[in-house]
Amino acid sequence: MKDYAIAAIPADGIGPEVITAGVEVLHALAQRQGNMRFSVHTFEWGSDYYKTHGVMMPEDGLAQLKAFDAIYFGAVGAPDVPDHITLWGLRLPICQGFDQYANVRPTKILPGIQSPLRKAVPGTLDWVIVRENSEGEYSGHGGRAHRGLPEEVGTEVAIFTRTGVTRIMRYAFRLAQTRPRKLLTVVTKSNAQRHGMVMWDEIAAEVAREFPDVTWDKMLVDAMTVRMTLHPESLDTIVATNLHADILSDLAGALAGSLGVAPTANIDPERRFPSMFEPIHGSAFDITGKGIANPVASFWTAAQMLEHLGEGEAAARLMTAVEQVCAEGIMTPDVGGTANTREVTQAVIRAIAEG
Ligand code: NAI
Ligand code: MG
Repeated sequence: MKDYAIAAIPADGIGPEVITAGVEVLHALAQRQGNMRFSVHTFEWGSDYYKTHGVMMPEDGLAQLKAFDAIYFGAVGAPDVPDHITLWGLRLPICQGFDQYANVRPTKILPGIQSPLRKAVPGTLDWVIVRENSEGEYSGHGGRAHRGLPEEVGTEVAIFTRTGVTRIMRYAFRLAQTRPRKLLTVVTKSNAQRHGMVMWDEIAAEVAREFPDVTWDKMLVDAMTVRMTLHPESLDTIVATNLHADILSDLAGALAGSLGVAPTANIDPERRFPSMFEPIHGSAFDITGKGIANPVASFWTAAQMLEHLGEGEAAARLMTAVEQVCAEGIMTPDVGGTANTREVTQAVIRAIAEG
């Protein structure tokens, strides 16, 4: 019997609603599998904690998380706390402190969910976007001088290191190698940005030699948006910088039908630290407390967590149950259904028990 220690951080808005649903589903799955259990410890960190303590998590927060096998995260963001405080106070310190340098975002059209692309059906669009999660355009390097004066300057410097690019490239090639099509697209903007982006292209070519069985191609990020929209079936695994992949993965989520189903994993591939699994969406104040948050993204990211823990069979069982429930039309209003969070969760638990 394997016993996995999971740190749950539901945090703000609909975070607690979807994480509660996800934990219930994980317990049902463990029961069905019979060879595992989950010991879930819930940390009450986030915006409410901030309002009482002046910080989003305690100073020794990372030390408290370090011993867990994985982190299951909801969302941060409250209407009355600035977004840069909630984001830089909880989620980013975990990603950076635990060197979760690979941000992995699978996207596919689930059965029963309508893509805004007229001709797309399940199977047309089945991608994994790998986002460099530790440097690039979001490294925080830059500054402002002569504030408020006409000669004011603001710089936002993108940092690309050989170490950082090589490790994300290896991760992406390795991931592409595990998928049936063994196909990787490397995205840059190396025509206009001739330093860091040209280095990306060069390192991609070097790493590609280690993976002779993976077919790869290069795209400029602007042309990539066109290819994603017009020829989604031509893509499989995609790797891009922090900024480029941030934008492309929002497009991917929209093309697949809804933000409410899109999952993400922040992975430390070297497994020195726990990795973190979360839905892509935020705290969604507009629907908080209404009981209609779509829990599918939190179920899908739970499947990513199981995959990372080496429980591929359990992950597949969970995804089969989720897809079956979507196909039956038991869905929340954001994807055109009439069910609530509870009903979708119950249906998935039933599908797991019967599957
Ligand atoms: P959001 O993702 O919270 O919501 C955008 C829209 O999608 C809303 O209309 C919402 O109702 C809908 N939506 C999102 N998730 C849904 C779900 N599971 N089921 C049904 N509908 C869903 O993004 P928004 O409104 O821009 O941001 C709200 C707060 O969340 C802000 O404070 C923002 O900073 C924060 N945020 C946090 C993120 C995180 O913790 N990783 C990511 C994105 C935003
Ligand atoms: Mg984004």
